[in-house]
Amino acid sequence: MSIEKLGVVGAGMMGSEIALVFAMAGKSVLLADTSEEGLNAAVKKLSEVLDSGIARGFWAEEDKPLALSRITTTTNLEDFSDREMVIEAVFEDVAIKSEVFAKLDKILPSACIIASNTSSISITVLSASLSDDRQADFLGLHFFSPVHRMKLVEVISAMDTSQRATEVATEACIDAGKVPIQVKDVVGFAVNRMLFALWNEALRLVEEGACTPEDIDIGCKLGLGHPVGPFELMDLTSNTLNLQVGEILQEAYGERFLPRPILKQIVAAGRAGRKTGRGWYRYDEKGRQKK
Ligand SMILES: NC(=O)c1ccc[n+]([C@@H]2O[C@H](COP(=O)([O-])OP(=O)(O)OC[C@H]3O[C@@H](n4cnc5c(N)ncnc54)[C@H](O)[C@@H]3O)[C@@H](O)[C@H]2O)c1
Repeated sequence: MSIEKLGVVGAGMMGSEIALVFAMAGKSVLLADTSEEGLNAAVKKLSEVLDSGIARGFWAEEDKPLALSRITTTTNLEDFSDREMVIEAVFEDVAIKSEVFAKLDKILPSACIIASNTSSISITVLSASLSDDRQADFLGLHFFSPVHRMKLVEVISAMDTSQRATEVATEACIDAGKVPIQVKDVVGFAVNRMLFALWNEALRLVEEGACTPEDIDIGCKLGLGHPVGPFELMDLTSNTLNLQVGEILQEAYGERFLPRPILKQIVAAGRAGRKTGRGWYRYDEKGRQKK
């Protein structure tokens, strides 16, 4: 079964770009958020992402109107009644996500695939907010930021996810140009567990005064071949979210994922990263790092 009609709930950094990659693959995408202003801002941001991608040769000029014409927006989840697959990308909060799933449960057609883009919440726990007969159609699809550039999707099956749901969702991701890997529903999945181990060591080096964030970023890029340094990446994903995920990892695995004091400090200081204009680095209003 090929998915043609998608819904995305949450038009923030992740949801809006998830909508974009499926629209670029020719799918009809309905993008939902809580306010018209949020949706307008998301569409404006997508237009800028497309302009910058066209300027850099990733897409052709004519891709832009085509992709944007395939994305419609709504503040009303009732409009999702004809969707074949829905991806949730609202705030990283069990209560908020559960409320969205409970609403979708009453609206979506039967056999609709339901996925969460959560970074760290157990997919089995989230599936509990759906009625029993929907749980086989529920799974995790963990995209990476920026979604239009990062090819990986972790496909996470919960305890009750069916083979059919996993196969259909995996195929839909491949259709959208992504490379899926299958991961069990362990806390942090695979990539964030490795990433947070690296980040914690990078944060320790800064705490010890051994290196500056700038030098660690240079070290990882030039010595390890990483395309982006750990502090640049922390600012991109948002330090607020990083701390939330770090706390969830600590709860699951204990001491080895203890969020570093310097990360707590930077979050308490309101330095979330690129979104707020300041994190480990400073950013201009277009999100470009200031030199
Ligand atoms: N930031 C990352 O790098 C990253 C990477 C992978 C996964 N994720 C996950 O993706 C999800 C979204 O993260 P983000 O960085 O895009 O967050 P974000 O804050 O940029 O966007 C969240 C959006 O959800 C909307 N929202 C909140 N409640 C809603 C509701 N009830 N109905 C509809 N919309 C609602 C908000 O208005 C906002 O626009 C989180 O679960 C996060 O853990 C984030």
